[in-house]
Amino acid sequence: MYSFENCGPLFQEMPAFLRKNKYQNVTDRKATIFQPAYNTDLDTYTYFSQHPENLQALIKYMGLEQDVRGRWLEAYPFEKHTQGWNPNPEEALFVDIGGNVGHYCALFRKKFPEIPVRIVLEDLPGTLAHSLPTPGVDKLGHDFFLPQPIKGAKFYHLGWILHNWSDEKAKIILHQIKLAMTPQSVLLINDMILPETQIPAFATALDLVMLGACGSLERTGQQWNDLLADVGLVIQDANVYDHELFHGEDYPMAGQY
Ligand SMILES: C[S@@+](CC[C@H](N)C(=O)[O-])C[C@H]1O[C@@H](n2cnc3c(N)ncnc32)[C@H](O)[C@@H]1O
Repeated sequence: MYSFENCGPLFQEMPAFLRKNKYQNVTDRKATIFQPAYNTDLDTYTYFSQHPENLQALIKYMGLEQDVRGRWLEAYPFEKHTQGWNPNPEEALFVDIGGNVGHYCALFRKKFPEIPVRIVLEDLPGTLAHSLPTPGVDKLGHDFFLPQPIKGAKFYHLGWILHNWSDEKAKIILHQIKLAMTPQSVLLINDMILPETQIPAFATALDLVMLGACGSLERTGQQWNDLLADVGLVIQDANVYDHELFHGEDYPMAGQY
């Protein structure tokens, strides 16, 4: 359903759009393939907020993605980063920024059922209206271009967020998080790291969807380094958890990164 509702029109429109634009890259999310494909001036997420069928298709697809992308919770060494951290119950352990309806907050709560600290789901109010009723997860309507209201959380999580945004916009999102972080905070970015060449088909297709839907991109290791360095952040560690590599393709991806 996601493919038919939210990707099909992009791929139908793409050849004519690229021809007309002489195959130049696009970074303006309000002047990309989405607008002629959906006959709108709106950007993707504003359009989705006004079109329940597209919003529901996105929510369903993000739910399905848990089967592969939810594995990060098993691969990440949380305990290593929480040793010596003594929060009071008001402090947040995990803030999922742009966390959709809360699939990863629910998995996180399931993994750490006993910990008496806050888990916070943030997204736009229209998406939060459909959020999962997970006990122990606070919900907060928040636009990630504005100052982050939860200060000093242990983990901030951005799952498939930055690939929706051009470098210029991604830097604003990152900057707002950086301002809220303390030296104990960790920013978890859950996104692909593309190899420089021989990019597998699924990753290539998703990169084209990002171009068409958002004027954005999937990034290589170098592109991630450059983006984060521009806001004064440094990659400490990269954990590869998709052991079927790019959703099932047997390919030696950027695991060496
Ligand atoms: C591709 S989905 C990723 C969802 C989830 N993080 C995951 O990994 O499954 C992008 C999410 O960003 C949210 N979003 C878009 N613009 C936003 C904004 N300005 N502020 C907060 N959330 C936003 C959307 O509502 C959507 O839930």
